Formats: sequence, C-alpha cells, structure tokens
Amino acid sequence: MSNKYDEAYKRSIADPNGFWGEAAADCHWYEKWDRVLDDSNPPFYRWFKGGVINSCYNALDHHIENGLGDQNALIYDSPVTDTIKSYTYSELRDETALFAGALADQGVRKGDRVLIYMPMIPQAAIAMLACARLGAVHSVVFGGFAANELATRINDAKPKVIVSASCGIEVAKVIAYKPLLDEAIDLAASKPDKCVIFQRPMKTATMIAGRDIDWGDATAAAQPADCVPVAATDPLYILYTSGTTGQPKGVVRDNGGHVVALKWTMKNIYNVDRGDVYWAASDVGWVVGHSYIVYGPLFRGCTTVLFEGKPVGTPDAGVFWRVISQHKVKCMFTAPTAFRAIKREDPDARLMADYDLSNFKTLFLAGERTDPDTLQWAEKSLKVPVIDHWWQTETGWAIAANCMGLHHFEVKPGSPTKAAPGWNLQVVDESSNPVPAGQIGALVVKLPLPPGTLPTLWNNDDRFIESYMSEFPGFYKTADAGFIDENGYVFVMSRTDDIINVAGHRLSTGAMEEVLADHPDVAECAVLGVEDSLKGQVPVGFLVLNAGTSREQSEIIGEVIQMVRGRIGPVASFKKATVVKRLPKTRSGKILRGTIQKIADNQDYKVPATIDDPTILGEMEQALTGIGLAKARK
Ligand code: COA
Ligand code: AMP
Repeated sequence: MSNKYDEAYKRSIADPNGFWGEAAADCHWYEKWDRVLDDSNPPFYRWFKGGVINSCYNALDHHIENGLGDQNALIYDSPVTDTIKSYTYSELRDETALFAGALADQGVRKGDRVLIYMPMIPQAAIAMLACARLGAVHSVVFGGFAANELATRINDAKPKVIVSASCGIEVAKVIAYKPLLDEAIDLAASKPDKCVIFQRPMKTATMIAGRDIDWGDATAAAQPADCVPVAATDPLYILYTSGTTGQPKGVVRDNGGHVVALKWTMKNIYNVDRGDVYWAASDVGWVVGHSYIVYGPLFRGCTTVLFEGKPVGTPDAGVFWRVISQHKVKCMFTAPTAFRAIKREDPDARLMADYDLSNFKTLFLAGERTDPDTLQWAEKSLKVPVIDHWWQTETGWAIAANCMGLHHFEVKPGSPTKAAPGWNLQVVDESSNPVPAGQIGALVVKLPLPPGTLPTLWNNDDRFIESYMSEFPGFYKTADAGFIDENGYVFVMSRTDDIINVAGHRLSTGAMEEVLADHPDVAECAVLGVEDSLKGQVPVGFLVLNAGTSREQSEIIGEVIQMVRGRIGPVASFKKATVVKRLPKTRSGKILRGTIQKIADNQDYKVPATIDDPTILGEMEQALTGIGLAKARK
C-alpha cells in the first residue's frame, strides 16, 4: 500500500518542477522564479532561476512578520562558560541587522566574501546571517584546523573581511584563535581589508592597529542594515571540505534552492515545525552546523539550540539529557561518535534518569554509518526512534533518510533507510550500468540533483566536473560505495576515495601523506584510517625512512605527528605512526592499502596475487602490533 513517502518520492522524480515549485511557495520571495528547474546547461543545473530572495529574511524577518517575534529563535547553551542565553526572533534579527550594518561599514557588499573563524558562540550564527542579509558570501572555517588550512581557504575565497573571536574553549582548555588567524593571514597571499574580532573574557586578543576592529566597537558605531534582495542562484556560502589532495574543495551553496530544500526537510525529514525546539549538536564549521544549527531550523520557524560543549566532560555524560530536558528539545541530530563517547562513560545511561525527556521524539544520527551497537543502545536508553541518515557537505541535506514527517519505516540496523524525495539514487558498476538489488557498487545520483545541493565548486567548474560528474556520465558521484536492497533500503559501506571519517569529521589521508612526505627523513609514506571504537576511524601513518638516516625513529615519529597537527590541525587526530622497512605494493608499484587496512583492523586477508613480495606483510603485522594494532592476530 502506498504511503506519503512513496507518493512524495515518485512525484519528486517524475515532476521535480511541480514538487519543488510547491515547496517554494512556502518561502518568501521578492520576485517569483521564471523556471523551477533550468536544465539548459547540464551538469550545471539551476533551481528557481529568475527568482529574487534573501536567506536572512526567510530565516528571521519573515517569521517576525508572521507573529513569531517573541518566540525563541536561538538558545545558546554553553556548559564550558556556564552560560545559557536565549534570543527571540526579534532579538536575533536586531543583532544580525546591526552586525550586517557593521560589516557594511567595513565595505562588505553583495557578492563579497567574508570568512568566519569562530567557536560555538551566537556571534558565529549572527555573522553568518549578517552576511546572508547583505548578500555577501560567507565561508566558515572550523576552529580545529591549523593556520595553514585557514590560509589555503583565505587564498581561495579571498575574503574582504574576516570575522573571528579571541578564543574557543575545548572542555577545560582555552584555545587562542587570534594567533592562529594572524599566522594564517601572514601565510596567505590574499589579505583581508579588515578583521572583526569578538573578544571573549577567558582570553582577549591582541589587536593589530588599522586592520583589527573589536566586534563591540564595530556594532556600537553601526546602523542596522536591511536585507539585500539577491538572485536565487547567487551564492550564499562556500564551505570547504576535504578532497583527495591538500587543496580542499570549495562547495558552493546558492540562496533559493537552499531555502526551499532545507525548509522542506525540517517538516518532512525531521518532523518538526514552527515552534518546535530542534538541536543539532555539531559545529557551525561543518555542513551540519550550516544546515541544521543555523539555516534549516530558522527557515522553518523553530527554536535552534547552539551548544558549546562536548557529549562528555562538560561536565559529564549526562549533558545531552540535561539540554534536551531543559530546553524541551523535540528532535536532536548528532554523530554516532558522540553517543559512543556517552555509552563508554555511562554504559547503563544512569545519568538519563535525572531528566524529564518527555518532549523528546526523535534522534537523528549522521556523519558516519551508525553502527548497530550504538543504534540499539540509543534506542533502548532513549525509547524513541533513532534514525541514521546519510549525506555529505556537497549535498547539504540527506540523500537517504527515514523521512519521519512522511512515513516512519521500520529501521534496519546499518541502513539510513531509503533515498529521500528528490534523490534518484542508483547503484552502478564501473561502466555506469545498474547492478542488481543487494549487490555492491558505486552510489550515484541521476542528475539533476535536487535544490539545496552544490551547483559547482568555488571558481572551479572544471574540478566540479572532474570530481563529481565525469566518472559516471549523467550521474553525481557520491564517492561512497554500497548497495540498495530489494525493499529500497540503502546501505553505505565505504568511501571509494582516500577520505576517512574521524569522529564524524571528514579528512583526507592524501593531504596527511603530503605533510609526512615533506619530512626530510621520510622517503615514502602511507596514511590509512584504521578502526577506532570511539572515533570510528583514526589515521595511522606508515613511514619508510631515507637510507642512511641515523636518527631515532621515535624522534621522527614525534616530528611527523607535530607536523600534521601544525599543518592540518588537531582535528586530524593524527597520533599514531610507525616506521616500516618497505610498504607492500603490487608489481606495478601501487601501495596495497586495502591489505594494510585489513591487517590493522584485525580482519582476515588474502595475500594479493599481484603483490611484489609477500614477506612484507609479516613485517607490516609486526609494525602494527608495535603500535597496539593488529594485536589479536596469530
Ligand atoms: N577548536 C579548536 N580545537 C578543536 C576544536 C575546535 N572547534 N574541535 C576539536 N578540537 C581539537 C580537540 O581539542 C582535540 O585536540 P587534542 O588532540 O589536543 O585533544 C582534537 O581537535 C580532536 O577533537 P575531537 O575530534 O573533537 O576529539 P575529542 O577527543 O576532543 O572528542 C568526541 C571526541 C567524540 C567527544 C567528539 O569528537 C565529539 O563530540 N564529536 C561529536 C561529533 C560531531 O560534532 N561531528 C560533526 C559532524 S555531525
Ligand atoms: P561530510 O561531507 O563531512 O558530511 O562527510 C560525508 C561522508 O561521510 C559521506 O560521503 C559518507 O562517507 C560519510 N557519511 C555521512 N553520513 C553517513 C551515514 N549515515 N552512513 C554512512 N556514511 C556516512
């Protein structure tokens, strides 16, 4: 029997113009679009061409005009500073308009880029919305990246202004942001005109005269700015994500399709609406933070929670339950790793008993596959549906989900359920031919992608085509492999490139190899993601040293660990490396990564027929045992 999901899915594929046109009618437009889908220049599809819109207006002003001015728009909950502060829609609009005025005073205009390097404080969301208000393009950079990564992004986006804060707080550690920012600007070829710095009392920053402006001074002198109408197809933001090299990809999101799609997902995927409290425990530096801490909940008129803390240690493994209960959260979104951290500290979920969770209806998990253990533990403890859903920075919202606002399907552990409406998801072989149900292949999406996804990469149409559109003509390559079973359930098994997922953070092992290869004593190297019971995967480096190196191996290992931390950032969690005499390779010289991985993860492996010298595998086992991996192997 057909259900609301089946109907919505079929219609979204058969009649995307009708489906998304209807969803768009729910948003505020200054001028209606000429065409819902412009498919005249594939693979550069455009949604709502001719439409004129403002994302900040849709997030704030529109709701105030519709009676939500006094409802909370954002609750800042920061156990690390012992602060809880709420902003109504009117208050958030006023602060945003004022900061937009301050940015305009620094010369920011429609189309200019503004880079935001901030911890999880309300000013981060205010800065993003202020850019949207002016039609400027924001590029938020996650705080756990090093100065070098920040510099790469500054060079690519060429921001006119950078907005930052004096420090962030990681559990009990105060992390000074400003010295990292200063170093990044020194390293970058492209310099911003100005930096606006939010001074936090835990550590104030030294300002550079003529370039740096205090947030408080900038807003004190400013007048509130109005929303600037922009084309639906104009960019709202750039978000850099790991590619297969050290050069990250600048994923672009446009305004119109993004408002329409995210507003639709709030009701249809997450089953929340105007007035409901929604909490995504992530960071504004990631796509989850963009879509579901800031824009999605505000487009829908929900109250969003902005949480500055960790699942454990701030102060304990009960903090998620405290936040859910205190703010009456209806739906929460986080990464499975957060639940693994809680489960490790409080295996019987005893801390949950202290809180009233009666308003809580659904937990959504993403960022990595939800392992069945974590799923079952969360279901058993919370007694609400626990929904795995699969998406990527590029897609901006879920490719596959159990769409709770449409139909609640039975959960199959290990599966993010079915392709979401708008996504013509298929599994194909190397020649782009469909494979039978249940068989593993490349997960690809038949074009066009739905609204709210990436129209291109910043200033790099060629890389957009090369990365996503060329291997399987007519399809978007997700770079994930998996299968779809005979009932339409999707199973995402692994990446097909060198990307690994560390505590829900997406990282490129290729980028880490580039860093290791720069060490003067390293002749050759490989970095692999090995299984980790908390973070899902962690990177491990294998180093072959130059002949004749007489230095202590432990010293070299310490140095490469520091180099990755210094060049990529602490977020890489690169803490393990080992020296090996040689790397196992095929006769044609390709490193046998899959085999090393299996050894590290303690899985059975076959000696590959193509290996040039099978005795190396014994050496690899020894090296891995030496760093605490592969230990159970006989
Ligand atoms: N600014 C500066 N440094 C940061 C940072 C930030 N915003 N975020 C993380 N770091 C640092 C951490 O302090 C840590 O440094 P250390 O090596 O000196 O200890 C390092 O980067 C790794 O951080 P993290 O991956 O968060 O590991 P952790 O051990 O501190 O915590 C978890 C582990 C599981 C509790 C944590 O990763 C978590 O809460 N994850 C939630 C998942 C999530 O938000 N995913 C995003 C996508 S939904
Ligand atoms: P990011 O761009 O950081 O969101 O990372 C996207 C990648 O994370 C995807 O391509 C997948 O490899 C992985 N991923 C995210 N969510 C899931 C999920 N629910 N199941 C399996 N893999 C996931």
